[in-house]
Amino acid sequence: MNQFGILMAAVSALGFVSYANAADVAMGKQKSEACAACHGANGISVSEKYPNLAGQKETYLGKQLHAFKAKTRENTLMNAIAEQLSDEDIGDLAAFFSSQPGGDGKAKSTLVAAINKSRVTFPKDYKSTYTKYTTISFAKKKQVRHYYANPIAVKAAKAGKPLPNGSKIFVEAFKVKLDENKMPIEGADGHLVAAGENPAFFTAMEIQAGWGDDIPDLLRNGDWNYAVFSGTGELKTAVNQASCLACHKPLADISYVFSLPSLTDAITK
Ligand code: HEC
Ligand code: HEC
Repeated sequence: MNQFGILMAAVSALGFVSYANAADVAMGKQKSEACAACHGANGISVSEKYPNLAGQKETYLGKQLHAFKAKTRENTLMNAIAEQLSDEDIGDLAAFFSSQPGGDGKAKSTLVAAINKSRVTFPKDYKSTYTKYTTISFAKKKQVRHYYANPIAVKAAKAGKPLPNGSKIFVEAFKVKLDENKMPIEGADGHLVAAGENPAFFTAMEIQAGWGDDIPDLLRNGDWNYAVFSGTGELKTAVNQASCLACHKPLADISYVFSLPSLTDAITK
């Protein structure tokens, strides 16, 4: 135990437990930068998708974080985040959020600008310069998606190397044709049939030097940024990039790209 620990032990032995809590709350505030992207800096969340943590019981918050860490409570985003937290982090974070005043259920925090800012631009020339490497059908979502990689990504994947700065993965997401029962129709190639020529939206991820610098470590995917574009190519600024980062985070070994094995397969065949 360091001097501070001995002091705190003495303080709580005397019954001044709140002193020990105060220290935890301050540490928790420091560690909560990544949480703020979804739960808000003060525990009032940024959208209906994310629960408020402010004013919740400290023990309950701690239990949930341990459960996410152990994956006995399953949620892709929170599992990826909690697995990076130590027991001490969990204690501090639970103390901090519990100490924040609760909201009225309608209050909403603003998105954290540094995390939410995506530098990815729409690649106008992708059809002529990128390599289309796979197609995936999503029956439940009623979508079919086409996956493209730019020349830098293709070259690295061919060489079996991690994707370097300048790599970009781009995805066309189409709505699909439905039959009279509103069920997706399968084409001769085994994929769902796209409804029309134009994608409903696009998703992208790109890596460039320094792009990850503003992103807290709990969420940072190296220097990758993520983006969603409308069917007409405009960047959707209301998308919370923290969710992209959190879900792709566990894939550090394959350059954070879920479909990297398909890319490697497609171009080395
Ligand atoms: C990318 C968005 C995102 C980030 C960043 C994030 N969370 Fe969450 N968190 C969620 C979502 C979504 C849920 C709801 C999970 C579910 O439905 O089970 C959640 C649930 C929780 C819960 C459970 C709440 C309850 O009422 O049961 C706790 C506690 C929590 N998060 C703490 C944290 C902490 C602490 C951090 C930062 C270290 C953090 N979260 C970062 C998205 C996020
Ligand atoms: C719940 C987890 C999850 C979240 C959240 C998520 N992704 Fe993904 N992402 C995946 C999975 C799984 C794939 C693999 C194929 C697929 O589902 O399209 C993928 C694939 C991708 C790809 C193709 C490259 C690759 O990794 O295979 C891009 C580009 C992409 N996602 C962008 C985004 C963006 C932008 C966001 C945030 C708006 C986001 N993702 C949020 C799970 C997620």
